Amino acid sequence: MLKKLNDIQIGGNKDTICITLILLPLITLTPVFYSTEIHIFTVFLSFIGVIGISYRLLDEYIHAHKLETSTKFKSSPPPANVDVYKSYLVGHATDTAVPIRIYFEIMTRHIMIIGQSGTGKSVLVRNLLFQHALQGGGLMHIDGKNDQGDFLKFYSLMCSIGRGDDVLVVNVDLPELSNTYNPILYGDPDEVATRIISLIPSSENSPGSDHYRTEATVALTIFVGALQQAGLAYSMIDLALLLMSDKALMELDAKLSEIDEYHEAAINFKTLLSKFIKKGRIDSQALKDMFGGVGGRIFMLGTNKFGQITNNYNPDIKLFDVITQNKILWIMLPTLGKTEAANAFGKILVSDLRTAVSWVLKLPDNQKPSPLFLASMDEAGSYVNDSWGRLFEQARSARIVMMPAVQTDANYKKISPELLSIVEGNSWSKIYLKVGDLDTAERIVKNIGTTKSIKYTLTSTESNSESKQNLQVTPNSTAGDGTGQSYGYQESDVDIITAPQIEALGIGECIMTVGGKDIYHLQMPMMQAVENHPFQVNKLGLDTPEKGLSLKLNYKKYIDVVKLKRDIDEEDSKYEKLDRPINK
Ligand SMILES: Nc1ncnc2c1ncn2[C@@H]1O[C@H](COP(=O)(O)OP(=O)(O)OP(=O)(O)O)[C@@H](O)[C@H]1O
Ligand SMILES: [Mg+2]
Repeated sequence: MLKKLNDIQIGGNKDTICITLILLPLITLTPVFYSTEIHIFTVFLSFIGVIGISYRLLDEYIHAHKLETSTKFKSSPPPANVDVYKSYLVGHATDTAVPIRIYFEIMTRHIMIIGQSGTGKSVLVRNLLFQHALQGGGLMHIDGKNDQGDFLKFYSLMCSIGRGDDVLVVNVDLPELSNTYNPILYGDPDEVATRIISLIPSSENSPGSDHYRTEATVALTIFVGALQQAGLAYSMIDLALLLMSDKALMELDAKLSEIDEYHEAAINFKTLLSKFIKKGRIDSQALKDMFGGVGGRIFMLGTNKFGQITNNYNPDIKLFDVITQNKILWIMLPTLGKTEAANAFGKILVSDLRTAVSWVLKLPDNQKPSPLFLASMDEAGSYVNDSWGRLFEQARSARIVMMPAVQTDANYKKISPELLSIVEGNSWSKIYLKVGDLDTAERIVKNIGTTKSIKYTLTSTESNSESKQNLQVTPNSTAGDGTGQSYGYQESDVDIITAPQIEALGIGECIMTVGGKDIYHLQMPMMQAVENHPFQVNKLGLDTPEKGLSLKLNYKKYIDVVKLKRDIDEEDSKYEKLDRPINK
């Protein structure tokens, strides 16, 4: 009790006035003040004093956080005039328990999420995606961890609101439960070529590798242009075989001549091919030197489980349609052990998204996604690259919300030091969950910034002095007392939130900053379907297959498999050497 009183720290002007008012009736009870009016008036003043001091004593309870959390943080005031149909609930402010919602307009400026494993990222994303689906919106979610449980929870939620039929899935681990998706089929030849080349890690300080990339991009553009001119759909495996087989190239050449040998695409193709002709035959070694590891990497995405999903000429999933028809697309990248293939798939997918976004951008406003399109990317660090900056800019005008989530800053930094700044600079809203490493926590503290803190001081002084001169005829002495009180204040910058506070956030709690101005400490809700729905893949069974290249069906005609495997290994190791910075 005494300790509590001590914590309250009674003192200062206001408290003194209140206590004086409380004690006032005791003075007026003395016979000097005999007037009843004075008695009534002082009792009234005393009552005011009691109210004043009670407010001080109850201060702790009045300003207590309404929600029980490990970190005490005072959130900014909630946004005014919230339209619940044009905003989504993120959570409740821990101090006031007021719901905090995020507006569509703010969402199109993108949202970045950072949080340690198991702190509630998936729950947060599911919550936002659910509210969006409830509004009839379209979305895609890339799950970098292939968590089937996460998907089933989401699917059950979709079924519970009658949107189970809109769900499309890419599940590389279980192709029989997956829709088909051919990520290189759509786009201009140069877009498709860039997409394929994105599979090769870029290496700024390796000029050899950059030269090789440019050459391979030009050649791929010409090949894809030729295929499009010939009216042939192609899949990963077709392209891989084309890049490895002189026979396949000669057949394509003959086909182009048959259609229109003076068409630009045909001329480009023939000119490129002529570079590789030696003694009347295609020099396959020169061809392989040009495409290096590209063929091998496409081959990887065109065979086995990937192949069952990607080798399709009229796939179920066309990103542009998913966006414009408000579909729900859930992509599970393959699990551990196939990291390279998963990252390659993620990259080519994001690249395909870029093409789709650029098409949506060209649509008139009334055909752009409404309400919005959410593109959520979990474990984004494994498949993002430097070209994301452009994607963020275009997505905003196309009414597409980018929502990447990572565990630490390092996930971005390992791709390139600038990438973190690109993502941060392009995300108006940032949601930080509990983070595990000090580096990330300190960066968040820096991002959130400082506020002015005023420290008040009250100093009182007391002095007395006396002086006498003893040897004097007339007594001459002085004595004096002095007291003084001074108020002062000191202004200093303090962090709005500290690293230990961020590290102490509980599961399901977050700090959300909107536009760097409003900062909220939120307790987020967890949504779960009451009933679990067994998953059934919605095969669209499109029965009008486009004319395809179908090299796969006759692969023996084009390649010697044993030799092919050896060549791929050889080329990959050669490429790795090229990729190594030459100045080291
Ligand atoms: N808002 C919440 N309220 C209550 N519990 C929560 C909340 N968010 C998360 N949890 C609990 O934490 C667990 C892990 O959450 P979640 O799967 O979202 O973590 P994560 O950050 O996605 O982890 P990972 O990075 O490993 O995928 C949930 O299963 C749930 O039990
Ligand atoms: Mg998760």
